[in-house]
Amino acid sequence: MVKPEDPNRVLIFDTTLRDGEQSPGISLNTGEKLEIAQQLARLGVDVIEAGFPITSPGDLEAVQTISRTVEGPIITGLARTHVADIDAAYEGVKDAERPRIHTFISTSDIHIEHQLQTTREDVKGQARAAVAHAKQYCDDVEFSPMDATRADLEFTAEVCAIAVEEGATTINIPDTVGYTMPAEYTAYLERLYALVPGLRDVVLSVHCHDDLGMAVANSLAGVLAGARQVECAVNGIGERAGNASLEEIVMLLRTRGDAIGGVHTELNSRELARSSRLVSRLTGYVVQPNKAIVGRNAFAHESGIHQDGVLKERETYEIMDATTVGLDSNAIVLGKHSGRHALRQALEDLGFTVSGQALNQAFARFKEIADRKKQVTAMDLEAIVTDELREEIAGYTLEWFDVEASSRRPPHATVGVRSPEGAEMTGSFTGDGPVDAIFHAINSATGIEAKLREFRVDAVTAGQDALGETSVVLELDGRSASGQGVSTDIIEAAGRAYVRALSNAVRRRDVAEREALEPSAL
Ligand code: KIV
Ligand code: ZN
Repeated sequence: MVKPEDPNRVLIFDTTLRDGEQSPGISLNTGEKLEIAQQLARLGVDVIEAGFPITSPGDLEAVQTISRTVEGPIITGLARTHVADIDAAYEGVKDAERPRIHTFISTSDIHIEHQLQTTREDVKGQARAAVAHAKQYCDDVEFSPMDATRADLEFTAEVCAIAVEEGATTINIPDTVGYTMPAEYTAYLERLYALVPGLRDVVLSVHCHDDLGMAVANSLAGVLAGARQVECAVNGIGERAGNASLEEIVMLLRTRGDAIGGVHTELNSRELARSSRLVSRLTGYVVQPNKAIVGRNAFAHESGIHQDGVLKERETYEIMDATTVGLDSNAIVLGKHSGRHALRQALEDLGFTVSGQALNQAFARFKEIADRKKQVTAMDLEAIVTDELREEIAGYTLEWFDVEASSRRPPHATVGVRSPEGAEMTGSFTGDGPVDAIFHAINSATGIEAKLREFRVDAVTAGQDALGETSVVLELDGRSASGQGVSTDIIEAAGRAYVRALSNAVRRRDVAEREALEPSAL
């Protein structure tokens, strides 16, 4: 990418689908990744890191699908310096409107000696060859010296200079293990600018992890030093403690950018809350209530003094307006008499283009819910569409269930589950509670002994008739997988979530078994 003309523009590089997807227990399938990527495009991120294509055929397929479908942002795929990685990354992004290859190699001695088991000279050679190889495919090439903040600065500078010489257009300096501190990081980057004059001609990027809770502060320190790309993830998900949180970076620059020379992003901040809900729903990673910007309580005032102040003048205790992050989007949009046309229009207003069979499916589901719930809000629709979309993924589906619950007899469940091959299987179980009974009945129907690790129920909106949203994390053969379900009936929502988690777990197990037979390059 050529450097933006506006020197104050900070590019947002979203890595929710790559670093974020590396969080334990997250296993998004292609449809889910595409849905997140489409939302990221609505949010207006500059770059989407869609995956790490060499790691599995599924990852490659997801990157290809996103590249072929999502318009607007640059789409990038990650690659080590190996030729096969770079070839796979290019296969992934080559059909994108604006493709980028992102290649990396560690420059810290601890990684070079223990993990790569090589020498500094070899690292320089690999960096040179990788950028040169990627450049044959793609003009837009990003290079990252991994673990840079624990590496020798002079050596990292030499490697970055090589990458720039070979044509890298973005140099990203990762704080891979979340070790640095703001002043130290600023000084590091300033020194790097001094040692690598060519750095001024490319985009300097920062990628900070949150192990010490410093990811956003360190990213800001990077911007102060001249970085004009920040790598971050929705809800701050990512390896270990996660990455810098996208919504915090965006609102920090929006709220305080004037105090730091007018730096700004071009994102549509009104899509932040919705992006956060979608990522939370699909990953099963709950957003803590007091999470900055997108937490349920981020704009709530409990103390009487604060409430009094805000009622008189919002700015007494609010530095941001909730509407700027999209927290006002819960207007009632439809009722039970609304027709297909109204549903389609409401979905389009939310940015979902649904037609044909998908619209029929969404309409049937909407009617079912509108019969039980008087008013359907924008947030309900979002939940329904996300829920319906997942039906398209080949896996098990819950066809029907009977659950008997009583305070006098143990609860009993019988279920009908359709297998990915189309066979209907039934199973029954008498459990400790109705949810336990339905989960075990699903195990009995499918013959898969998955173990429940987490179960959560949330309400999509307020009110007694609110849609219930459930999230299940289960474990199969030592691997965890999650699934979510939405319904006005929480037993049904729980059953739907469980079969989805089971489908994801089976898919992960099958991929692992295939990889054991044919080890991939990683
Ligand atoms: O944290 C890290 O160093 C990374 C690189 C691959 C950029 O994720
Ligand atoms: Zn990272």
